[in-house]
Amino acid sequence: MRLKDKVAIVTGAGQTESGGMGNGRATAITFAREGATLMLANRSRPSLDETVRQIRAEGFPVESMLADITKEEDCRRLMAATEAAFGCIDILHNNVGAGTVDGDTAELDLAAWRHCLDLNLSGAMLLSKHVLPSMRARKSGCITHTSSIASVASLPLIAYKVSKAALNEFCRWLAFENGPYNIRCNVLLLGLLDTPTAIEMYHGTSGDPRDKIRRERAARPPLRRMGNAWDAANGALFLASDAACYITGAVIPVDGGLGTKVGV
Ligand SMILES: NC(=O)c1ccc[n+]([C@@H]2O[C@H](COP(=O)([O-])OP(=O)(O)OC[C@H]3O[C@@H](n4cnc5c(N)ncnc54)[C@H](O)[C@@H]3O)[C@@H](O)[C@H]2O)c1
Repeated sequence: MRLKDKVAIVTGAGQTESGGMGNGRATAITFAREGATLMLANRSRPSLDETVRQIRAEGFPVESMLADITKEEDCRRLMAATEAAFGCIDILHNNVGAGTVDGDTAELDLAAWRHCLDLNLSGAMLLSKHVLPSMRARKSGCITHTSSIASVASLPLIAYKVSKAALNEFCRWLAFENGPYNIRCNVLLLGLLDTPTAIEMYHGTSGDPRDKIRRERAARPPLRRMGNAWDAANGALFLASDAACYITGAVIPVDGGLGTKVGV
């Protein structure tokens, strides 16, 4: 019960429904099992409802609402609904993020670039903006955003890489700015995970069979396996728990050692 009596928002709590477990759903389930009272948000309904169903089936309290985190009004409503339902907010876990293979600066599409920065960076800013006043007033809070090892790697994911690299620095700023209010802000640097969204994205782009994509991804980290959504959820749990009470401004890899491979 590492999150007993904590109220947490988890964004991106639905997932691509193609079998397997996504990071948002795994994190929501893990937080619920550890005692958190949850407000889940997602841009679309069916997969969000499925996450709620799974959590309620285990007997845990959970509310949910549709919210597009790139829209300021939705972020404001999400915070207001959380306070109305539960009276406060202790934890913001922002799982939303995505990218597509682009790969050549000379051919970048401006609309796709803007969408990626909006989703991965501006959404994180808007959510943070709207939870901070309440956390500051209570002099307590924990914000975790979800970044990627792509932010420090050279991969043909230019817009994604740049948006997540900016997110890392935004989180470090949040930690600096909000430490005096006893609000911790960290970022998870996720590696190659076996989640439906990731596998379907590469399958859709390359046409390669999913098994081949999985084999190639599993061979790359020093631990010689892909991570999974539960690995991401455990990282999120650690950062949200009191075990991390002196950790803020940290960029924490959950990547099977992939980040050690610079130059290899
Ligand atoms: N899967 C990986 O290999 C991997 C690697 C590195 C980082 N990440 C990061 O993990 C996070 C997502 O994990 P996942 O890939 O398992 O996906 P996921 O299964 O957690 O699904 C993401 C959810 O976010 C929702 N969403 C998308 N845009 C939204 C918006 N504007 N507002 C609200 N909800 C929105 C989607 O509908 C979906 O339900 C992202 O931040 C991603 O960048 C994933």
